[in-house]
Amino acid sequence: MNGRGNAIVLIGFMGTGKSSVGRELARRTNLPRYDTDEVVTKRFGFPIAEIFARHGEPAFRDAEADAIATAPDGAAIIVTGGGALLRGGQVEHVRRLGSVVRLTADVATLMARLSRRPSRPLLRADDPRAAVERLLAQREPFYRQAADFSVDTSHLTHEEVAEAVLAGLDANLGT
Ligand code: S3P
Repeated sequence: MNGRGNAIVLIGFMGTGKSSVGRELARRTNLPRYDTDEVVTKRFGFPIAEIFARHGEPAFRDAEADAIATAPDGAAIIVTGGGALLRGGQVEHVRRLGSVVRLTADVATLMARLSRRPSRPLLRADDPRAAVERLLAQREPFYRQAADFSVDTSHLTHEEVAEAVLAGLDANLGT
């Protein structure tokens, strides 16, 4: 399988639904779920906002890179944080783990979803929409390079997104 594993790796911006869709995919496929945000949070023993506040973003990124490096290399649902691909080598690494599916959403949908949860430290800005647009532009090339295909989640439920992911994988594998 040209050096690629059997995992389904979800990538994409905050608020695209990766964690919820990851849970739904794990339920449907019976595969174990590995969410890098959860792994990092468990390692530190406190929430992400507090990791940023107490140790700084670089410490969070180190732990996140380590969580990706130690992700299971068998069949699994792997959910990555929105900034997980920025470090050198991460695009190649997630592609080695398996099929990489990018979740997207339009900016209005992202803003609506993200404003419901104040837990993301990068959006504690005076102008969160500008922060989202800036981060999206910066990250676009990484997401594009890593993804085998994308699913626009703007108007879909988590269940519908999971279905689209599984259908996309079938189509991509030519079955
Ligand atoms: C981040 C996304 C978050 C989390 C952290 C940083 C980012 O994960 O890893 O707050 O840089 O985009 P989600 O994409 O699951 O929200």
